[in-house]
Formats: sequence, C-alpha cells, structure tokens
Amino acid sequence: MSSNAPIGVFDSGLGGLSVLQAVRALLPHESLLYVADSRYAPYGERPDTFIEQRSLAIGRWLRAHGAKALVVACNTATAHGVAALRADAVWPVVGVEPGIKPAAAASKTGVIGVLATAATLRSARFADLLARHTAQGQRFLCQPGHGLVERIEAGDVGSADVVALLERYIEPMLAQGVDTLVLGCTHYPFLIPAIERRFGNALTLIDTGAAIARQLQRRLETAELSAPAQCESLPGLAGTLQLFTTASPHALQKMADRLLPHAPGVQAVRIPGTGEANEVTECVPNDAARLDLPPNLPIASA
Ligand code: DGL
Repeated sequence: MSSNAPIGVFDSGLGGLSVLQAVRALLPHESLLYVADSRYAPYGERPDTFIEQRSLAIGRWLRAHGAKALVVACNTATAHGVAALRADAVWPVVGVEPGIKPAAAASKTGVIGVLATAATLRSARFADLLARHTAQGQRFLCQPGHGLVERIEAGDVGSADVVALLERYIEPMLAQGVDTLVLGCTHYPFLIPAIERRFGNALTLIDTGAAIARQLQRRLETAELSAPAQCESLPGLAGTLQLFTTASPHALQKMADRLLPHAPGVQAVRIPGTGEANEVTECVPNDAARLDLPPNLPIASA
C-alpha cells in the first residue's frame, strides 16, 4: 500500500467530522475519504451485532476504495466493531473511546460525568476502560444522550429543544458534584457552544479529537505509511478530501461547509453489508438498554 494513499474515516453520520477536523489540522498533507453512514444513524440505539456488521461493511468499502489506514471516528462503532475490524487487519486501525483517562486527571471534585450513546455505555470495552482509569475515590456518572444524535444529524446544534435535553442530562450531574464532562460521542463536540452558553464554565469538557489525530500520526509513522510532507516544498499543497454519505447529502454538506475550508461536494453511496438486510424493517431502538439505564447511572466508584 502506498504512503500516498488516502486514510479512510467513518462515523454513523456527521459526528466524525469533529475528528476529521482534528486530523486535517495535524496532518494537512494526508488525503482523506470520509463516510457518514447516516442511513443507519444513530448507531447508539442499534443492537451490538448491527453496529459491528456496519463497521465491517464500511471498513471493507474504504479498503476497496484504496484507503491505507482506517479511523473509526465513532465511539459506538469502536465499542462494538473495532475488535472485528482489527481481527484481520492488514492496515492500521485507530478507534476512539470516551476520554476517561484525561477526565480522571482533570477532575478536582472526583465526580465525572460521561455523556455517550446507550450502546457505548453498555459495552464491555467501556466497562474495561472505566475499570482501568478510575482512581481511588472517584465516581463516574454515566448518562446516555438519547435524542441528541438525531437532532445533530438534522443540523440542530442549539435549539431550545436541544438545550432542554442538555439540561435534563447535565443538571442532575452538576447537582451531584460533577466538574468534568466527557463528550463520549463524536457528535457531541458540536454541542460545545450550546453547553457553554447554558452552563458557563461550570464544566471542563473532554473531547478526544486531537488525541486521536496524534494517535493516527504515530500509527502511520510506525507502519511507514505517512504521506510525504509535501507542504514543506510546496506550501499550498494539501491532501485531498472526499466526502460520502449513505443518506441524503444535504446535512453532511451543510455541516462540512460550516466546518471545513473548501469542502468538496458530498457524494451519496450505497454500502451494502449485512446491515442492509434490516433495510426494510423499521429501526427498533434498543428498549432493553433504555430501560436498564436510569437517568444517571453511577457505574463505577472506587
Ligand atoms: N458519533 C457516534 C459516537 O461517537 C455515534 C452516534 C450514534 O450514531 O448514535 O458514538
């Protein structure tokens, strides 16, 4: 695989653009292929096997389109798909996970909030992450962000409706002493302005986009797959970017135009996979997970 090949990046939808932005900032000479699987968003309300199957289908599609490495720019897909993606990995695969470690280091009160999808919060990977990084005396309050991804996918990052959901999820955390909030879904960084407007500086917000970009840089270097740093000799020459979506291009185009200088036109694609078998059935939210998770669930304390 050539070091000039693009890097594949995917998410269930628009959220991964928050990671893509960080990758573009750190590695401007790398070319990128971004897939938003918006036809199947939100992943966070889907069964675990569905998320794994979609992750494998998109990984295969990106590989077939020439990607040299893969960034799973989705906490939910990482929680349920990254192990399968790495099982036969012939390329570097970088996942994202909620920033539990930096949050544990940043918190002064020792009470940390985690806002993530229901599917991420119920995963074994997340339980393991908490077990590894919870220090003596610290507590994590975990809140599924039901309804947030749907609104962000529709381009709503600050309506009264979104603020009401944020209040419902964050106010009980503040009442229990939370001073640090992990944004455990790549869609949520788009809510930072709304959170800051509503809660001021009461919370330190933890987003891992920049850390993922650095991890990608290390993995490319180790695999000797870093694109030649063309910028040194030709300062204006950046890597190319292609944007794909499995749904209507409109929402991704709008968000990309807002976030990325000179965003290209979004192309609609079909990415068949086992998930397609569910195409004709209605998306059934995972009611079991919904019922199992009360509004604020302290799932780790030491
Ligand atoms: N952006 C994704 C994440 O980081 C997934 C959100 C969803 O589709 O539910 O978890």
